[in-house]
Amino acid sequence: FETGRLAGLRVLVTAGPTREAIDPVRYVSNRSSGRMGYAVAAAAREAGARVTLVSGPVALDGPPGIERVMVETAEEMRAAVRAQLPGCDIFIGAAAVADYRPAQAAAQKLKKRDANLSLDLVRNPDILAEVAQGEPRPFTVGFAAETGDLDANARTKRMQKSLDLIAANLVGPGLGFDAEDNALTLYWEGGSESLPRQSKPQLARELIAIVAQRFHDASSD
Ligand code: C5P
Repeated sequence: FETGRLAGLRVLVTAGPTREAIDPVRYVSNRSSGRMGYAVAAAAREAGARVTLVSGPVALDGPPGIERVMVETAEEMRAAVRAQLPGCDIFIGAAAVADYRPAQAAAQKLKKRDANLSLDLVRNPDILAEVAQGEPRPFTVGFAAETGDLDANARTKRMQKSLDLIAANLVGPGLGFDAEDNALTLYWEGGSESLPRQSKPQLARELIAIVAQRFHDASSD
């Protein structure tokens, strides 16, 4: 039996980058280490939740006591999320899903030929927006990594994706992606709170405490 602010709840977290194949040996991806999402999953578990982590390729071990589903592409992540969604109370999308994928993955390794090479990219599904705009709908939390204008970009993103809460951070050299520390500003309907720069595990605990509070407030409306 579990105690804690998320006792009895099911939390689904996405983390890490996705990889989108160009050919059998190459891919398009990004600098996400998965550390923030893994810390969020661990903090939700600490708070008493049953946690499933859908993870892109990362160099991290699965946190103890958590069910982990490994995926590679955005399409695989979407399918895994859909499969885990029934019965989920809170969804936290911390993955850095590749926004685009090659229109077609070449069956054979591409050969060097011309001086220039163009890749034709198509949009990936927005997993978070689909969850937030689906039915039934868990309490939905997203992340926004921005290189500037944090406040305006995060508020707009929260509205556009229909999120209950968005956790925004500035990214750049030594900040956010692939870093040990992070800082977050949280925005929800009618409020916001800044969590100062600290280790990702500590930051994740503070984020989970606020998510739990907002979740319980929303459920008692
Ligand atoms: O729009 P942007 O990519 O900045 O939004 C970031 C948030 O959306 C993150 O929470 C990320 O996990 C989620 N996302 C997603 N699927 C995508 C793109 C982003 O779930 N294809």
